[in-house]
Amino acid sequence: MYVCVCHAFTDREIRTAVDLGARSLYEAQCSLPVASCCGRCEKTSRQVVDEHLGLEN
Ligand code: FES
Repeated sequence: MYVCVCHAFTDREIRTAVDLGARSLYEAQCSLPVASCCGRCEKTSRQVVDEHLGLEN
């Protein structure tokens, strides 16, 4: 599903950033400028990262 409408990033792309080594939303943003425009997707993007890292249930 699309998480970031501004940049058309999907949850899959965010999970891929985690698979490639990102350990936080901040680190994911190094390769994926998610949540860098209007910011509305920041909470959801962070949840996707944390869930993929196993930090949330
Ligand atoms: S929806 Fe992601 S920055 Fe706007």
